[in-house]
Amino acid sequence: MGLPGKPSKQSKPSKPDKLNKLGKHGKPMKGVKDMKTIVVFNQKGGVGKTSTVINLMSEFTTRGKKVLVVDLDAQRNLTTFCGVREADRSVIDWLTLKGGIDEITQTKKYGDIIPADRTLETELLRFASMPAFVIRIRDLLSKIPQDRYDVVLIDCPPAVNQLTAAALVAADYVLIPTEAEFFSADGVGRIAETIAQVRPLNQEIKVLGVLIVKYNSRRTLTQALEAKLGAAVERLLGCEIFRTKIRATVDVPAAQATGLSVKEYRRDSKAAKDYSALADEIENIIGDRK
Ligand SMILES: Nc1ncnc2c1ncn2[C@@H]1O[C@H](COP(=O)(O)OP(=O)(O)OP(=O)(O)O)[C@@H](O)[C@H]1O
Ligand SMILES: [Mg+2]
Repeated sequence: MGLPGKPSKQSKPSKPDKLNKLGKHGKPMKGVKDMKTIVVFNQKGGVGKTSTVINLMSEFTTRGKKVLVVDLDAQRNLTTFCGVREADRSVIDWLTLKGGIDEITQTKKYGDIIPADRTLETELLRFASMPAFVIRIRDLLSKIPQDRYDVVLIDCPPAVNQLTAAALVAADYVLIPTEAEFFSADGVGRIAETIAQVRPLNQEIKVLGVLIVKYNSRRTLTQALEAKLGAAVERLLGCEIFRTKIRATVDVPAAQATGLSVKEYRRDSKAAKDYSALADEIENIIGDRK
């Protein structure tokens, strides 16, 4: 992409966007986009992106929200979790305009999914040759009736490529999961650069927050280090570290292996409580339309 520029600092919305967009009589203003797209992104692998999409999907659905998830990762972890077969139509058909959302989306236990395909990575060259591919996801999402979904969660592969760029261009918000151990000002800087590169195409992009996953209070992140990283996040991404941290527990992989959200797998799991608190934090920022 190679677009220069540092990320511009942005302040966190002080009240839910929903409130900001109410007209005089408390009704949503005409033409205001209500469906919120949250892109779960970190170019580093294995940091809890898919686990976060899965558990937020389930949490929001339980709260009565209409949720769509889009799997952009050739590993198909989210797709497999949702129980979609390899042979089924995928996000590639959607992105190459060979199928509309109604033909490709599948309705599963925790919401609707546009599934991934194993060949997504080899398709990257083809995507690169398509004119204006970088704005395609935004265009396709804008064609969905805005009252059909409240939240769209996009699960990204651990990479910076045409797909993740297109996802970031479509984002209202970016959520960045990370493991405390690997969390560094350097890593934050790289993510900030990637976001800065798409900003000319998406001036409205906001970083929802940095989410610490697999948190172990005995092992990870002293208060001093957390304060230092918090400052780096604020300076480079213009957001904060979520108050909620997702604690490390074997319940997360165990739940995933059985096709359940961690809350459904074990209601009193630490991670179930954390994901619920995270959903509260997110609703406070984006509004809780349902
Ligand atoms: N809170 C947690 N406690 C323990 N294990 C966790 C937790 N969150 C995620 N994991 C496990 O860590 C591994 C990586 O998580 P996940 O697949 O969500 O990361 P990812 O960022 O999507 O990876 P990739 O970049 O490969 O797509 C998985 O086995 C997952 O079950
Ligand atoms: Mg993943």
